[in-house]
Amino acid sequence: MKEIPISFTLSKNSYRIFIEPGLLKRIPVFLQQNKWGERYAIICDRRVASLYGKKLVKTLADAGLKAQLFTFPAGEPFKTFQTAMKLISGMLRAKLNRSDAIIALGGGVTGDLAGFIASMYMRGIPYIQIPTTLLGMVDSSIGGKTGVNLTEGKNLVGTFYQPKAVYIDPDFLKTLPKKQFLNGFAEIIKCSIINDKGLFLELENMIKENKKFTSAILNKLIVQSIKIKAYIIEKDEKDIATRMVLNYGHTIGHALEKLSAYQLEHGQAISLGMILVNKIASELRLLNKKDEMRINNLINAFDLLKISPKILTKIMDPQKIWSIIQNDKKVHKSKIYFIMPKKISKTIIYPDMSKKIFLKCFLRIVND
Ligand SMILES: NC(=O)c1ccc[n+]([C@@H]2O[C@H](COP(=O)([O-])OP(=O)(O)OC[C@H]3O[C@@H](n4cnc5c(N)ncnc54)[C@H](O)[C@@H]3O)[C@@H](O)[C@H]2O)c1
Ligand SMILES: [Zn+2]
Repeated sequence: MKEIPISFTLSKNSYRIFIEPGLLKRIPVFLQQNKWGERYAIICDRRVASLYGKKLVKTLADAGLKAQLFTFPAGEPFKTFQTAMKLISGMLRAKLNRSDAIIALGGGVTGDLAGFIASMYMRGIPYIQIPTTLLGMVDSSIGGKTGVNLTEGKNLVGTFYQPKAVYIDPDFLKTLPKKQFLNGFAEIIKCSIINDKGLFLELENMIKENKKFTSAILNKLIVQSIKIKAYIIEKDEKDIATRMVLNYGHTIGHALEKLSAYQLEHGQAISLGMILVNKIASELRLLNKKDEMRINNLINAFDLLKISPKILTKIMDPQKIWSIIQNDKKVHKSKIYFIMPKKISKTIIYPDMSKKIFLKCFLRIVND
């Protein structure tokens, strides 16, 4: 079993991430060892509930642990206050109290919602993350960002609330649809460009040699990506500076998601976001053409840019993209920060992107 520790020097929120195929079976042992709760509220969407949730309740019951499922309909539209309130009401009806804990079993939507509830329920109860999507394993389950979407935008309300532990069982990926895999791969590629040339080369080689993503290879990629995220968030738990690099491809990507009325998958949106920001970086002579091409080719090879022409026409509107970026919550003191690659595995924070530069570079891209 691989173990990756995350330690925050400024707070007492350190915890460990465990990775091993088949880990789900050992969850009762971990809970008995740590005693985070007398009872466990397992929060999951209905799809994951029928695939794994009911089984987990039985596994825990067989080990003498008390657990109850609290479910909601699957999908991003349900990551809302309303869903959180319904789940909280259910937990109150079940008389769960401060000595109980939450298990977030599912993808990023479940992790964000369950973490948000854990941070508020009776002024905060412990929770653990058991991610079941690739994106959840390499990204959303780690770092303690929780939240819900509002009609005004995604993740506008939330908390920083670290889990007690993260348990990753790559066997969950056996039932994950390809579309969801791609969302995870986009984040893995992002991590490699931010911080790990070795990982980038491995991904390039896999494509070149047409290798299959076996479970052994997937495990290795998950571990490498987590190490990068852990390294970054340890330096900046509350997303004040360093953590911003994780936003590479996301500033433009979020705007594209919104413009597409969320028809674009997150992985596609951030992939196109990375391609566009690379182009801007190369226009500004921050990134050389050779590295730009290598990054773009890798993203392309993962089928992340298969976007319908109808959606592309709708979203490739620089004025609209700019105005959405300006309203992004990541804008600090009215400055727009762009994360730009200088080369593979090195990014810089471009501190004050102007509308003029953005539009000039973007128009060159569109006219290319
Ligand atoms: N907190 C963070 O740091 C952070 C980071 C990145 C993303 N996020 C959030 O994560 C969310 C996206 O997460 P996601 O892509 O995991 O989406 P998701 O949670 O909606 O899961 C995607 C779909 O896959 C299904 N599913 C989950 N596991 C499965 C499995 N093993 N087999 C079959 N189907 C399965 C789910 O039921 C759902 O329909 C967004 O809301 C985003 O804001 C948070
Ligand atoms: Zn992302």
